[in-house]
Amino acid sequence: MASDMDLDARKGRADEAVASHATRSEPDFQQLSPMAPPFEPPSRQSLLLPPHSPIEKVAIAVEVCLKPSSSACHDEITSAVERLLAKRSLTYMDGPVVLKEGDDPFLCDNVQSICICDTGNEESADGLGNDTVLLFWQVTLNIFVYQFNDEGPGEELDDSEGIPNFQDWILPAKEFDGLWESLIFDTTLKRRLIRYAEVALLFSETAVNPNMISWNRVILLHGPPGTGKTSLCRAIAQKLSIRLNKRYGEAQLVEINAHSLFSKWFSESGKMVTKLFQKIHSFVEEGDTLIFLLLDEVESLASARHAALSGSEPSDSIRVVNALLTQLDKLKAFPNVIVLTTSNVTGAIDIAFVDRADIKAFVGLPSLWARYEILRSCIKELIRVGLLSTAWEGSEDLILEFTRIDRMNCCIFSSGAPLNVLASKLLLETAQKTEGLSCRALRKLPFLAYTMLRNVSKVDLLKYLECMEAAAKKEMTEISELK
Ligand SMILES: Nc1ncnc2c1ncn2[C@@H]1O[C@H](COP(=O)(O)OP(=O)(O)O)[C@@H](O)[C@H]1O
Ligand SMILES: [Mg+2]
Repeated sequence: MASDMDLDARKGRADEAVASHATRSEPDFQQLSPMAPPFEPPSRQSLLLPPHSPIEKVAIAVEVCLKPSSSACHDEITSAVERLLAKRSLTYMDGPVVLKEGDDPFLCDNVQSICICDTGNEESADGLGNDTVLLFWQVTLNIFVYQFNDEGPGEELDDSEGIPNFQDWILPAKEFDGLWESLIFDTTLKRRLIRYAEVALLFSETAVNPNMISWNRVILLHGPPGTGKTSLCRAIAQKLSIRLNKRYGEAQLVEINAHSLFSKWFSESGKMVTKLFQKIHSFVEEGDTLIFLLLDEVESLASARHAALSGSEPSDSIRVVNALLTQLDKLKAFPNVIVLTTSNVTGAIDIAFVDRADIKAFVGLPSLWARYEILRSCIKELIRVGLLSTAWEGSEDLILEFTRIDRMNCCIFSSGAPLNVLASKLLLETAQKTEGLSCRALRKLPFLAYTMLRNVSKVDLLKYLECMEAAAKKEMTEISELK
């Protein structure tokens, strides 16, 4: 940590840099005399950029979670966090800001966690691979203060059979804490979806004429099972409930699995759809509540329609599909609703859904990078809870990021290499052997590997990584036997 003097000196240098930039970019009015050269139309590029804009700052988010017991005023927390960061942070990178003894007691009493997000540039991939570092003068801070709801999901049960029809959560929910960060994708999908949802809500709020520009506030995620589609929908809802809590007093996620509509009680399905939408309407009509409707596994709608057409199922199911679509169209009138849909089968989605979705994003199986980072996050968790230990404790990078290990020359991996390099290499080899596994299967491997250990007291990381490789091989063989 830099001393205060050091910090002041560096702040001063940065201020000078900003000032000299501003001076240089000041327009030179003296030159606009009658003798000035003939007018030249500005280039297309200069029309797109504001003239002489100051250094463009990166808007980063600071998410501040209050303790369950706190009743502090959000504005006061925001000011206190601004003061804390101004005093302490010379640089910003994604991750937690830990409160220490001696920090503002008001914050220590009320705040559970502070997290910096969104420092990565637009092109960088999602997930844990973002290591962008920004200097304090490059950023503007958007501080979001929130508190978890820990009531758990409310379940609407089928009266006769006690089967849950749908679940709803008040957001942000304790269950979804950390979900967003745990999801790793090869593309900028997470950022694209957040941006989409923010703009969709903005267009609705500002009453853009939907006959001129059409948008439905419907997102469809499709791809193989276990790649994070359902989790991502929940995580987006949670994230937006935090980021938009100044505009919407409350946020709610209502989740229904489309399969449940076509269960053997499906003659009741029409009623179920009506009940579901009655509930949604009761929330939606309070304009202050942001509603997310998650329709999971909509491929069953297409297959139900198909089965009904081929005569193998009564035409009731078509009525259910149609009722659902009609209700969804009615929701368009409300600016505070976002519909999230998923399908595990890319080729068999009901065209009516495909048509309604503004974003149809494919979520594929994880690449080598994503597989390595998922496994690395699992190992970090086992170390955090004390189920793994290392001979080189204390060092920060117990396992290196993919980008660092991938760049290393293979001759570095000799027996004399640092232990964390050897561990990372072992993990990379496991990740290489798991091509084709879903993220869900990958997150199970660390558990399976642990079951292979003979002695579970004081497990050494290197020994464990060997078990992980064996578990990966076994899993791949078992899967190939199933095919
Ligand atoms: N992209 C991902 N990154 C990290 N973990 C993932 C990812 N996708 C899935 N998982 C893990 O797999 C579990 C199941 O994912 P889920 O969202 O149900 O997948 P899907 O809906 O695509 O079948 C999640 O709880 C999570 O632990
Ligand atoms: Mg799913």
